[in-house]
Amino acid sequence: MSNWIEACSLDQLKEGLPYPVTLDDYDIVLIRQDDSVYALADNCTHQDFPLSQGKVGPDRITCRAHGAQFCLKTGKALKAPAFAGVKTFTTRIDDGIVFVDV
Ligand code: FES
Repeated sequence: MSNWIEACSLDQLKEGLPYPVTLDDYDIVLIRQDDSVYALADNCTHQDFPLSQGKVGPDRITCRAHGAQFCLKTGKALKAPAFAGVKTFTTRIDDGIVFVDV
């Protein structure tokens, strides 16, 4: 069942700059890239460091703590020391507002 929650306005998201939000008790990092907004759990699966403090590349985010990387689209772990992926959430943009299905 869908549970769409308003997260922020699209204008608040700067290209490639992670934006942390808490929605319905989930810590989530939003990432705007090209025409898409990605939403991932804001916890690295290695040692729980906030991914929102990481660096965004073309298709991934790199955890600032020890360099693990995760796919923006799927949350899949792309580089050790993390091996488990992070949860991802579906997003949609309505009239300049970003919604996340939590
Ligand atoms: S906590 Fe993210 S790589 Fe270690």
